[in-house]
Amino acid sequence: DSADKGEYRHFMLKEIYEQPKVIKATMEGRITDSRVLEQALGTEAANLLEDVNHVQIIACGTSYHAGMVARYWIEELAGVACSVEVASEFRYRKHVIQRDTLFLCISQSGETADTLAALRQAKQAGFRAALAICNVPGSSLVRESDLVIMTQAGPEIGVASTKAFTTQLTALLIFTLALARHNGLDEQREADIVKAIHQLPGQVDQVLALDGDIAEMSKAFMDKNHSLFLGRGSQFPVALEGALKLKEISYIHAEAYPAGELKHGPLALVDSEMPVVTVAPNNDLVEKLKSNLEEVRARGGELFVFADQSADVRPEEHIHVMQLPSVHEITAPIVYTVPLQLLSYHVAVLKGTDVDQPRNLAKSVTVE
Ligand code: G6P
Repeated sequence: DSADKGEYRHFMLKEIYEQPKVIKATMEGRITDSRVLEQALGTEAANLLEDVNHVQIIACGTSYHAGMVARYWIEELAGVACSVEVASEFRYRKHVIQRDTLFLCISQSGETADTLAALRQAKQAGFRAALAICNVPGSSLVRESDLVIMTQAGPEIGVASTKAFTTQLTALLIFTLALARHNGLDEQREADIVKAIHQLPGQVDQVLALDGDIAEMSKAFMDKNHSLFLGRGSQFPVALEGALKLKEISYIHAEAYPAGELKHGPLALVDSEMPVVTVAPNNDLVEKLKSNLEEVRARGGELFVFADQSADVRPEEHIHVMQLPSVHEITAPIVYTVPLQLLSYHVAVLKGTDVDQPRNLAKSVTVE
């Protein structure tokens, strides 16, 4: 029963733990061992994706962060230009829709007022097709779109979105591979990434096994008023999402920055009272990230690093390292999201806030 917390203390924790299962459900029937099944995205998919020249992503909140990750994938794998904007900004400015634009709305509920308004407005301006990534069948967004990829997260009760986000990412990556195939992605690369998608449920399970250690780590945040989250590349939106989770449910001020921007402002804030959380998968940016960590440490900052076990980020005084399984660079944002969800959850529990229904927030913002 989806409205039942079962053995869990909060819906949010239950939903975090459901992720291996719902990520699996979201990939099911859409990929083989080595390929994306484009026809599973809709009978019109092949035709609509053929001449796409630009992808305009629109969303709000956590769904917007999913869109930001997708931009890295779409430009890297499909070589198609991609813009991402929050719906409330897009709808109130004059915008230029390029020729052969695919208009992609991401929404858990499919009822967010700003997202729907942006879609309706863009229809007036004209675009090639509207694609929705959505979790609620029969929602307004689903009804008003040409192509729909449903996330199979099941009902999400916690106001702070968790499983909706990771299933959105799964669906977005599958979509990206379909688009990329129309734009020359080679079969071997597609097969490698599809293999990595199949590994996700197991890898998320491995991260969930760190729950006790993350709960221990969360104690360091309990009496803090501010925090900084850093990431580079496609992990920057993961840092944004981590910061959003922490502020939503623990009421600790959390800001996310691309690690390369550290020197352009946030470093001035770093001291022992401001924990710095960093996501460090093992990609070609990890060496740069390590020097960012040194900069923080040299200013007396306390660092909490979630790092690939092969990335050689070593614990030292004031550097706490949580080692994560080695994962494919492309799927890493999905895996690295999970420890940050658990961190926020445990900080909120320690602070005794209303985890599932944080003050002033609503699950679905259907009015402006
Ligand atoms: C609210 C919810 C968030 C959600 C956002 C967008 O702010 O609290 O969890 O990410 O709306 O909602 P949507 O249903 O469009 O994804």
